[in-house]
Amino acid sequence: MKKNILILCLCILGVVSAFTGLSAQSTAQSFESNPVDKKFVLLPVKTGAAKTWVTVNVDGVWQHEFEIELATENPDFYATLEVGQWKGKKLVLTAETVVPGSKWLNLIKTSDQMSDEPLVYKEEYRPQFHFAPRRGWTNDPNGLVYYKGTYHLFFQHNPYGTSWGNMTWGHAVSTDLVHWNEMADAVIPDKNGVVFSGSAVVDWNNTSGLQTNPARDKAGKIVNPPLVAFYTSTDANRGKGKSAQSMVYSLDEGKTWLKYPGNPVLPHMIGGNRDPKVFWYEDRKNPANPNNGHWTMALFMDGEDYALFSSKNLIQWEKICDIKKLGCSECPDMFELPVDNNKQQSRWVFWGGNGKYLIGNFDGKEFKIESGPFTTKFGGNDYAAQSYSDIPANDGRRIQFSWMQGGEYPKMPFNQQFTSPRNLTLRTTPDGIRLFMEPVKEIEKLRLPDPITFSATLKGAENPVQVTGLKGELLDIEIRFDLKSYHATDTNSVIKTELFGQTISYNPGTQILSLTGIKAPLAPVDGKIKLRLLIDRTSLELFANEGIVQIAKCFVNKDKNSANLTISGNSDLADVHIVAYQLESVWKK
Ligand code: FRU
Repeated sequence: MKKNILILCLCILGVVSAFTGLSAQSTAQSFESNPVDKKFVLLPVKTGAAKTWVTVNVDGVWQHEFEIELATENPDFYATLEVGQWKGKKLVLTAETVVPGSKWLNLIKTSDQMSDEPLVYKEEYRPQFHFAPRRGWTNDPNGLVYYKGTYHLFFQHNPYGTSWGNMTWGHAVSTDLVHWNEMADAVIPDKNGVVFSGSAVVDWNNTSGLQTNPARDKAGKIVNPPLVAFYTSTDANRGKGKSAQSMVYSLDEGKTWLKYPGNPVLPHMIGGNRDPKVFWYEDRKNPANPNNGHWTMALFMDGEDYALFSSKNLIQWEKICDIKKLGCSECPDMFELPVDNNKQQSRWVFWGGNGKYLIGNFDGKEFKIESGPFTTKFGGNDYAAQSYSDIPANDGRRIQFSWMQGGEYPKMPFNQQFTSPRNLTLRTTPDGIRLFMEPVKEIEKLRLPDPITFSATLKGAENPVQVTGLKGELLDIEIRFDLKSYHATDTNSVIKTELFGQTISYNPGTQILSLTGIKAPLAPVDGKIKLRLLIDRTSLELFANEGIVQIAKCFVNKDKNSANLTISGNSDLADVHIVAYQLESVWKK
């Protein structure tokens, strides 16, 4: 393509420098592509460089703006701005404050490929079987919806830098929950502001009327229903806006998303109200009632308070109840699950941002709390989980992703990752009904053949038993301790498992499990403690006793090829059984 670069020194010196505090020579400069004939503009980024706002104008009309650490030379990576939707038009990107002498206009590129091909997924600290964005920052998983064989994963994305900002919905798709194909960003900021967290549903009966050409099969079922997603638009006007709930929809099976012209669909009500999670409620006791069923939105309101809203058409919403003082804020989720696999004994779960949950009943109008709050998650690297909508009934799982908040990815052009996908179940325990979470079975597809199996009797705290033959950095390990004669009063004896510099210990006396300082209560079941470990290059997830306890921990695995797995503990504490699989990377080498 003819790359038209136009350097416009628009407004200089006094005005810009007074506004930004930058040196008096900072200038505004523009990049122009006229006509647009490629899918993407690739912008050079250098982490730590001076930030500038860039506005996007098409045929003279303002579209959106973002803040970016524009590289003056030697970019760390390229950020991707999708422009294909403006083919044939005139695109002008204006950087407000450009450092004198910056070469960004020589570095910027247009392309039909997203950023940095073929460097992506080959980085030193790239998670090998966990989702992390190609480039830029992510936090919450958003809009998790399954449709026609595809799992959609949207995510809070800063496409232009490796720290939080410019919130946009990134988009990735998968047919098996482990191999992801990242697409162009799906929902970008607009005059209503940036795009915070939210959810997506399939509007099977076209209740919204957004599908204007519904096609039906012989049974009368709509075969091209709209996919509808809800998110919070906020911080319009560079931090001066209020948050309201907006809607986008897709008529091409989730490939492209259109803004609903009547946005926002729910105005600002209070505080930082945000993170709409929408689901279809049906009264299974009265299936014949033609009025049965409505959409429900769980919304974070303010402080530790949430509220539920109801709608027949996804567009008009009315408040139905409050759920207050849950002990957490942000990112609600709400779903019904059978107890012990028995649908007649189902309960509803209300879930908050930090993983605290309530168990109760929901009749379409009110959430009645039965017990809680409880938690299954321990440790600080797990936040803002969301579960999938529209998993087919014959699968029936409640699959959840969570943000592994706080990880470190030294010098990487991306930042943050998600947990592995988990399946949630409600089970009866001696303490009552609780939520369990275990890795989905699809992870097992990554297991390489010939696992290491190992059994041993412990030989004392000072004599660790070495598990030999364990190779590789990506591991899926099952460990079972058959507890022997321990005394409940003996709180000094500990079974210690060490690998990759991490320590997992279990104290049968105190019934405390700990992973390098993160502690969780854990009672043996039938005299056994069962652990499942998923180890990736930058994370370790520990699921205990089928997931009544789960600890997600970020760590940078520098030992890579020597796990050096040892187990120690008094010989009368336990017998140990281990099955350890090496996993394959989801990225092609
Ligand atoms: C949770 C959260 C959400 C918000 C989003 C913004 O991590 O603060 O409440 O929508 O992140 O990125």
